[in-house]
Order: sequence, then C-alpha cells, then structure tokens
Amino acid sequence: MRKYLVIGNPIEHSLSPLIHNFWIKKHNLDATYEKQKLENDNVKDIINDLRDNRISGINVTVPFKNIIISHLDELSDIAKETQSVNTIFKKNNKVIGENTDVFGFSESIRQTNFNPKNKKALILGAGGVSPSIILALKKMNISEIFLSNRTRQKAEILKNSFPFLKLIDWGQTVKFDLIVNATSIGLKNNEEFKTDYTKQGGQLFYDVIYNPLHTNFLKSAKKSGIAAENGKNMFIYQAMKAFKIWHDIEPEINDEVRDLIK
Ligand code: ATR
Repeated sequence: MRKYLVIGNPIEHSLSPLIHNFWIKKHNLDATYEKQKLENDNVKDIINDLRDNRISGINVTVPFKNIIISHLDELSDIAKETQSVNTIFKKNNKVIGENTDVFGFSESIRQTNFNPKNKKALILGAGGVSPSIILALKKMNISEIFLSNRTRQKAEILKNSFPFLKLIDWGQTVKFDLIVNATSIGLKNNEEFKTDYTKQGGQLFYDVIYNPLHTNFLKSAKKSGIAAENGKNMFIYQAMKAFKIWHDIEPEINDEVRDLIK
C-alpha cells in the first residue's frame, strides 16, 4: 500500500487527509494519506523515507514550506520562484519539490467574477503562503501589489524576491480592488483586524483561511456589500493538483467534494 503524508506543526487542523482519502477511495487506489506532526529535526528523516520508498508523496504545510527546500534534489520553476514547496514526489530517483498553491489560488480567483488584470491588490501578511499569492497575481497580470505585514522585516525579505512589491506599514491601507488576508488572523473565531479595510471599498475580499469558512474579515466585506471569497477553493484545487502529480488522475471537483469542507 502506498503511503502519503501531510507534514506540519501544528497539523491537527489539516483537512488534507479528508480530501485525499476521499479521492483515493473513489478511484480504488491502494493507498493511504495521513497527517503527521513534525519537529524541525525530523524533516530530513521524512525526506529519507520518501527517498527509500517508504513514503510515496508528501504535502507540506506551515512552517516547513521553505525549510524543506534544502533537503530536496530539484524544484519546479514555480517552487523556485516562490521558494515555497507544498508537494513532494520522486521522479527518476530524484526528490522533487513542487508548489501547487499558486495553481490553487489562481483557479479559485478564476471561479469568482474578479479578473486581476490591470487591478490593484493589497496582500496582508508575509508568511508561508504570501509568495504563492504574489506569483499567482503577477501571472494573472495584476498591475500593482501592495504588501503589509506586522513585522516589516519579513515584508522586506519578500520584496527582495519580488522587487515590484510596494510595502505599506501595518495598520495602513491604500486604494485596492482586491484584498487578500494571508495572515493567520481569523483562524481562531474571535480574532479580527484592528484596521477596517472595508472603508476603501474594493471589489473582492479574499481570505486564504478555509477553516472557519466565514472569518470576521469576510463578514465585514459582506456587510459592506463587497464580494467575499474564502480559501476553500484554493485548498481544493491545490489538493487536486497534488493528487494529479502523485496518481496521474485528475479528480473531479463536485459538490460532494466541496461538502467535505464545512
Ligand atoms: P510563518 O510566519 O511562520 O510563515 P504563517 O502562518 O505562514 O507563519 O504566517 C503568519 C502571518 O500572519 C505572518 O504574516 C504574521 O505576521 P508576522 O510576520 O508579523 O508574524 C501574521 N500574523 C499572525 N498573527 C498576527 C497578528 N495577531 N497580528 C498581525 N499579524 C499577524
């Protein structure tokens, strides 16, 4: 039986096993998908498990998407550009890092009415998922990306990789068409931003968080009559692409799949 894993710390909240095991069952594959909490010291061992075929594929989540890179043999172009890996597989005896978050985010934006072409975006947060959102928006021909992060230094590091970014201080805002919450504010139900971003108007409020589905950030948009989109589709589409890479099957995304994530 082939074994797949999602690694992270914390990992309890991950819904990846739910969706991958659903597709594994649907396609009658001889495989399992589990979550595993990892400490920094164990990253190398897990990659060796994949090298020695004890594991067939790994999904990577916070805080390992970047740290894992030094243990891999090769990166896809997108993983290289974002310095962020969420999917690992073996090909021709090499351990390869791929990033399917960029695809996940782009696909989820395509499902909305919002077309980023020639628009302005404000991204909140400079953590693990931010480079994927920046690259996805750039590829969708956005005209300007503003970035705001509590710890300014982390925003500056991102600007080294993406020089076109315009940094603004935490708590400040600008005129934007799209705003993306890429922070962890909202993961806990009562958390909210101190800044009211709805005053700027905007066309779409996007929250990378999918659990809970309705963060205060998105609720505030809806209250102001602005479109709001959570991270559920991003999550489903990044999983779909990882599944395709590992099993060479493109799983169908339908209501049954969407209903898994509530
Ligand atoms: P990591 O920083 O380890 O990559 P992450 O979950 O990917 O973790 O990112 C967390 C993001 O949420 C960061 O942008 C973080 O801001 P800092 O860089 O200043 O830490 C942001 N974040 C989390 N809690 C926050 C809070 N209470 N206020 C403002 N930003 C917060």
